[in-house]
Amino acid sequence: MTKLTPTIAIDGPAASGKGTLARRLAEYFRFHHLDTGLTYRGVAHALIEANMPLDNEDMACLVAEKLDLGSLNKDILSAHEIGDAASKVAVMSRVRETLVEAQRKFANKEPGAVLDGRDIGTVVCPQAEIKLYITASPEKRAERRYREVGEKGSGAEYSQILADIIKRDERDMGRADSPLKPAENAHLIDTSEMSIETAFSTALALVEEALSE
Ligand code: DC
Repeated sequence: MTKLTPTIAIDGPAASGKGTLARRLAEYFRFHHLDTGLTYRGVAHALIEANMPLDNEDMACLVAEKLDLGSLNKDILSAHEIGDAASKVAVMSRVRETLVEAQRKFANKEPGAVLDGRDIGTVVCPQAEIKLYITASPEKRAERRYREVGEKGSGAEYSQILADIIKRDERDMGRADSPLKPAENAHLIDTSEMSIETAFSTALALVEEALSE
């Protein structure tokens, strides 16, 4: 590996497998990892706890400014409803500006960082050494989410999860500011028919090649 403080940018829709890949790549290279979805979820969760509406931009900005990236609790924030609320909070440009600034600082950590989200390759770290766009069909993603929430004992219906995923894709891809889309120079990986191991080895080969250039 020859690059100094490299950034690995990973984007993709909800439940595409990008989070697992990001975590595993960070472990492999001993890089820092930030799941940027948690930052939007953290803001949404704080607003819900304070009984505040999700579309109050001033209030959401205050919460975003105070957010401590080190104290984001994945167990609490990974709830399905918080993902939906986060996607609503994420349409507000001033909230995005505040969170993007914190995310960029994180990306400069030595010896390197992996960030995953929706706009990492396009907006947060356009200079990233390597960009991956992880996708899968809505049905496959709903199946994975269904199994995940089932294991946690939630009685959510598959059809409801699929409908939510489709709605969230529309919101994340259709918003005016930083919509979800692959960066021009991103490598696309469709994990619909891949095991986690195959997805990981595919991603690893691309990252190793880019970092050794
Ligand atoms: O990845 P996730 O499901 O935890 O993200 C939750 C929501 O946060 C997602 O639906 C849209 C928003 N988000 C975003 O707009 N930009 C990011 N970089 C990450 C997440």
